Amino acid sequence: MRCLVVDDEPRLRRVLVRLLAGEGFTCAEAGSGVEALRELEKEPAPLVISDLRMPEMDGVTLLREIIMRWPETAVIVVTAVAEVESAVACLQMGALDYVAKPFHLDEVRARVSQALDKRRLITENRSYQQSLEDRVEAQARRIEELFLEGVHALVYALEAKDAYTRGHSMRVANYSVEIARALALDSDLIDTIALGSELHDVGKIGVSESVLHKAGKLTDAEYRHIMEHTVIGARILGPLMRDAPGALAIVRSHHERLDGSGSPDGLKGKQIPFEARLVSVADAFDAMTSVRPYRPSLAVNHAMRELEEGKGIQFDPDIVNAFLRAFQEGASLPIPTPQLQPLRLPMRVMEARRA
Ligand SMILES: [Fe+2]
Repeated sequence: MRCLVVDDEPRLRRVLVRLLAGEGFTCAEAGSGVEALRELEKEPAPLVISDLRMPEMDGVTLLREIIMRWPETAVIVVTAVAEVESAVACLQMGALDYVAKPFHLDEVRARVSQALDKRRLITENRSYQQSLEDRVEAQARRIEELFLEGVHALVYALEAKDAYTRGHSMRVANYSVEIARALALDSDLIDTIALGSELHDVGKIGVSESVLHKAGKLTDAEYRHIMEHTVIGARILGPLMRDAPGALAIVRSHHERLDGSGSPDGLKGKQIPFEARLVSVADAFDAMTSVRPYRPSLAVNHAMRELEEGKGIQFDPDIVNAFLRAFQEGASLPIPTPQLQPLRLPMRVMEARRA
């Protein structure tokens, strides 16, 4: 094992070097703190024995540097008997031991062996802690993956049952993200809105297929049954999305209307969560501009007029305005169905899950 002996007295240095060489160490020597740092930069050493009083750079400054730059290195300081206070200060800073001058060789031998034992324990402890941290990190990542896999399973189940809804959800997510950008929302809120809008109709898994695919006009009972998808979706996703209340609010409240006549809770105005008010504009626009078995699609201009007319009644006016800004008054509408993107968790959700 390599050892660096630092002392400005060549005689003392040689005594220590001879002793340590006899113990099997390969020794390097330095006559000052500055020289010692140069030696360590060339090749770090697991053990440094250093005098405290030296020209250029004293032992305390050297110790501080070593602890900062080579925390794995064990340092033993050599002090005069009168310097016990400095020795104690060195121990507090992280030196593993000290030897008082004049010293017995046996004492030095014992201190070196103890210091190396301590160093080994500290290193083992550190690597054990690191491996624990790595395992916790890996578990957190796995939990996150399981969560997303669970959500994906729901999305795929819905897709198998109702291909229209999946394409619709992806377009709504796109519209919603563009509205969010036009409103200069922060990126975490945008991610929440993207996740919530992709999942907003997941509750249709619980809606009967004959009603979902009915070509003719729905009866009142059938309409009420379809509208249950908000509550069903929130019930399915609730346990999975405790850390993403904004996304969950989109699932439950995207059919609320500003005037309080929406469902499922009849919320009014600002009682409706902001994220849900935003997605409801995107949702309505996409529903109007898509072809359904029971009706053709509306022209873009017509759908935009409906949004304008619904300001303050069904829709939040600021959000409708942001939609119009985002799509330059309709010039780039309607957007095509985007490629299937993997779902992403908002940063805040990931951090909450890790904590
Ligand atoms: Fe819906």
